Amino acid sequence: MDWKTLYHQRTMSAPEAVGRIRSGDRVVVMHACGEPSYLLDVMTENAAAYENVEIVHMVSMGKSSYAQPGMERHFRHNALFVGGTTRAAVAEGRGDFTPCFFSEAPALFDSTLPVDVALITVTPPDSEGRCSLGISVDYTMAAVHKAKTVIAQVNSQMPFTCGPSTVDVADIDCFVLHDAPLVTLAPPRIGPVEEAIGQNVASLVRDGDTLQLGIGAIPDAVLKFLTGKRDLGIHSEMFSDGVVDLAEAGVITNAKKTLHPGKYVATFLMGTRRLYDFVNRNADVYMAPVEYVNDPFVIARNDNMVSINSCVQVDLMGQIASESIGLTQISGTGGQVDFIRGAARSKGGRSIIAMPSTVKGKISKIVPFLDPGAAVTTCRCDADYVVTEYGVAHLKGHTLRDRARALIEIAHPSFRPELKAEFERRFSTPY
Ligand code: COA
Repeated sequence: MDWKTLYHQRTMSAPEAVGRIRSGDRVVVMHACGEPSYLLDVMTENAAAYENVEIVHMVSMGKSSYAQPGMERHFRHNALFVGGTTRAAVAEGRGDFTPCFFSEAPALFDSTLPVDVALITVTPPDSEGRCSLGISVDYTMAAVHKAKTVIAQVNSQMPFTCGPSTVDVADIDCFVLHDAPLVTLAPPRIGPVEEAIGQNVASLVRDGDTLQLGIGAIPDAVLKFLTGKRDLGIHSEMFSDGVVDLAEAGVITNAKKTLHPGKYVATFLMGTRRLYDFVNRNADVYMAPVEYVNDPFVIARNDNMVSINSCVQVDLMGQIASESIGLTQISGTGGQVDFIRGAARSKGGRSIIAMPSTVKGKISKIVPFLDPGAAVTTCRCDADYVVTEYGVAHLKGHTLRDRARALIEIAHPSFRPELKAEFERRFSTPY
């Protein structure tokens, strides 16, 4: 059957499509700014029809109404990465968190998390009957190929991205035509602290480096301070509008990349309409599944790979907690460790954890001990550079004593006395 007939036959209303979800199903949802918001709204309106449907996804950027109080009999959220709209559900026991490296999320669909239904967003099909997964290829590609039923919101506002990011009309069981603006992520606020962090990060970035930019305000903000560099490249699980600024300024050219020269490589994107227009049908942007983009051995094929991520706390040994405040899960491991390990194996590679020295001036992020229960995302052997607004601490290959000293030097001055007292207790020597 030709793809046009198939597409026509499989096009239906949203209630009909989400009606294919059965009680007890596991539903994997395209995440971040690519989420199929309309399908999720209709599914939640239809809540009374379901019992115990498991909703699995990573970054939550939309309303997550299925995770709100009162929904627990119908839906149970299993987060691979907790976000602002799902934190309460996980903290209050109405949802769960499954730790995983982003690169390994697709493999879970073959082991502990077999997929009944994939809920996704796609572009309308092109002339060959291919739909693009647009700004969220990551684990969505695996979910499409492993799910028993694939339900897609066809949204012409989704950019058609290039690379191995398309699926065939025949791969999708239900098409729901619904155009709507995509979820957006506002550019970060830049104040004096972000400016100083950006300048310190810039001191570690060299012309010709290939960058990964992690999630959160700081990694995108530091891009503003790289305008003096030349021929930077991008191999990153995600990027935002800051990359468009540097591309337009001629700073990012991808010319020196040793893997996919000339291309921006990513697995998902979060930003504004400007970013989505930049990537639309842009053959220089290579969007690929996460098991490829985030594979540390693939990352390492980029010489001079520099990963830039953020965290919640660093202890004096260099253990990095990036996803929980004590026992409270606030995000996830995501691709932080994938990229730190890839950068470590890259010729000339470096990894940077960049963060403000305090939370709103009140709590030091550099601490003698992590909060009880905090998850160590990046272990002390993986930790390389830590940057705050006060400078750069190099940890890799340095003794515990030297690490502690370097971290105290970049802590906020008002917390240094207590950190120095801990140093003297721990190492039985004057600071
Ligand atoms: N003690 C107490 N609260 C803290 C804290 C600390 N040490 N550090 C952060 N917080 C709070 C903040 O105040 C904020 O609270 P609020 O939402 O009530 O304002 C919340 O935790 C989030 O922190 P913030 O610094 O605003 O987050 P961010 O959006 O800049 O993201 C991380 C920072 C660390 C959460 C984010 O980079 C992350 O999830 N990293 C792990 C995964 C990763 O790096 N993946 C790579 C790409 S996927």
